[in-house]
Amino acid sequence: MSAPIPFLDLKREVAAIRPEIDAAIARVLDSGWFILGDELSRFEGAFADALGVGHAVGVGNGTDAIALALEAVGVGRDDEVITVPNTAEPTCAAIASLGATPLFVDIDADTMMLDPDQLSAVITKRCAAIVPVHLFGHPAPMAPILAEAGAIPVVEDCAQAMGARLAGRAAGTFGRAACFSFYPSKNLGAYGDGGAVVTSDESVADRLRLLRNYGQRVRYRHELAGHNSRLDELQAAILSVKLAHLDGWIERRRALAERYRHGIDHPLARHPGVAPGAHHVYHLYPLRVPERDRVQARLAELGVSTLIHYPLPLHLQPAFAHLGYRPGDFPNAEAAAASMISLPLFPQLTDDEAARVVAAVNQVLAEVGGG
Ligand SMILES: Cc1ncc(COP(=O)(O)O)c(C=O)c1O
Repeated sequence: MSAPIPFLDLKREVAAIRPEIDAAIARVLDSGWFILGDELSRFEGAFADALGVGHAVGVGNGTDAIALALEAVGVGRDDEVITVPNTAEPTCAAIASLGATPLFVDIDADTMMLDPDQLSAVITKRCAAIVPVHLFGHPAPMAPILAEAGAIPVVEDCAQAMGARLAGRAAGTFGRAACFSFYPSKNLGAYGDGGAVVTSDESVADRLRLLRNYGQRVRYRHELAGHNSRLDELQAAILSVKLAHLDGWIERRRALAERYRHGIDHPLARHPGVAPGAHHVYHLYPLRVPERDRVQARLAELGVSTLIHYPLPLHLQPAFAHLGYRPGDFPNAEAAAASMISLPLFPQLTDDEAARVVAAVNQVLAEVGGG
């Protein structure tokens, strides 16, 4: 039997760029400087340029990026912040960490992105921010979201969407601020934790730089209570290496996604929808299938590793039970959660492995659904 196909294998990525990574790490070690130094400034500049924004502020992780961005745009205790129930839990944890109340709106059944038509019913006077999530690498519909938001700040969650575009414009350039995660599995991942907030608003950038570093602009003078959340020099140096490879890696993700889209041809398989004008970067490939758990178990038997993103929507998670939501409140998010299965998709997946994934999925769907 052929070797099992991993969901993700970062050893392959490291092997492909090892000399560059070793050199970057050695440079930081030789500098003897590990926090808030030249490597971070260089990476922040390159990252901001790659997106076409004024400022990038490196922080400790993507969760902190969201919490700090919300704090920087003025969200505080007793405010409400609207997001989607099918996002990763940290989107919501970041909102809750400020003492604010997360509120949800349902998603579009096809793209699985925030449905802007649902916003007006949920926006109250207490709404202090809206957090659209560019989930799976697909951009959320920013024009109608911004129109509904009016003066309410929009903070984009781009954790899964580095490189995504909408009508030619980068995800992360639409809102007041946008938040990235450099968790190792992300399209642009560090070799540890990391994150960034980008913004073209000078005052938001200034507040973020204070907030991430104990509220100080100059040493030992604290303008705000602040936090400790900084992207360290080692991760910044590694990310600078990887940023130069990102376009090629994204093209490879898109090519693999096309293989799945065209190769998996069972009538019961529902491929992820792509909105007009959306440049999808396929952080994930969530196929929707009947009898998902059985499909996942059979694929595992055939040597194909998969994950579910995510099995239980946030409005039904124990952590958010106090919000009072019930099953049935967000039918599209609940239907997606019950039927999605994420297939292996990373730039170093080989053509042969992708062909084996396609064959295995077609075989299992034939077993499950006939045809
Ligand atoms: C959509 C989304 N938002 C936020 C986060 C949080 O990022 P991090 O794990 O870097 O804190 C993640 C990743 O885990 C994510 O996928």
